Amino acid sequence: MTTRLVHTRAELRGALSNRPGEVGVVMTMGALHEGHRRLIRVARRRCEVIVVTVFLNPLQFAPGEDLSRYPKTLPDDVELCAAENVDLVFAPSVDEVYPLGDQPQVRVQAGPLGDVLEGRSRPGHFDGVLTVVAKLLHLTAPDVAYFGQKDAQQLLLIRRMAQDLDFPVEVVAVPTVRDDDGLALSSRNTYLGPADREVALALSRALRAGADAAPSGPESVRRAAHEVLAAQPGVGVDYLALVDPGNLRDVPEDFAGEALLAVAARVGTTRLIDNVLVELGA
Ligand code: PAJ
Repeated sequence: MTTRLVHTRAELRGALSNRPGEVGVVMTMGALHEGHRRLIRVARRRCEVIVVTVFLNPLQFAPGEDLSRYPKTLPDDVELCAAENVDLVFAPSVDEVYPLGDQPQVRVQAGPLGDVLEGRSRPGHFDGVLTVVAKLLHLTAPDVAYFGQKDAQQLLLIRRMAQDLDFPVEVVAVPTVRDDDGLALSSRNTYLGPADREVALALSRALRAGADAAPSGPESVRRAAHEVLAAQPGVGVDYLALVDPGNLRDVPEDFAGEALLAVAARVGTTRLIDNVLVELGA
């Protein structure tokens, strides 16, 4: 089987007509890595047809963010997809996705869940994400869509959009893939020089320390994670939060169940995010 690379809606529609079985989609901004590969493999276990979208969505980047330097590696991306027997790679241009201009009049609004954590630091980011995810869901019409737990808030908001707006798609979460040293894989890791990469390890170390403190309760989790970050020079913490994964509110001291410990920090000029789920009150 060969992987087909298509760039237009018309080609996509043609390639997807009369497909037998379930269609699974993995949406990406390209610069594919082992995290993306895991999403594709999980999709492959269930779906007969796999579509990978590669689209660097300007709508989810604010002025001054890293849109212009974001890595672009389409030939390598297609190669990875071919190695994973992906049926179709849809890599449209900005004009193809936003034919009426890249500032669409009508957008999906994330609502209050989009204003906290990542949304507080990146106003409008999740409106941009949900708008393009909605469009790509319409264009690819999948049965199942796969998203990484790495972007926990994004995952929650996409689930909520699908429920609130009745998208006929099943949203499946895939656990975070990490390097052997613990660093969560990200296309943005390519910005990190060797020294910054060492510094960046403090994020996953902090999350592990937090998770280890779970038996002592939420305050201990927050303190343990904070201490690791504070002890590492060169980490500019944006937020560290222990929240209810369903509503992103800070969990109270008597909380029982799964909580989300999430961190965002700047290392050099690179902004990184990571998270783990911790079991409280067990
Ligand atoms: P991107 O950052 O390319 O990520 C594409 C998908 O891969 C997302 O679902 C993300 O959560 C998942 N992913 C990234 N790193 C991962 C890792 N280390 N382990 C597991 N999954 C990982 O997220 C986006 O693109 C965009 O916002 C998008 C949804 C495509 C909309 O533009």
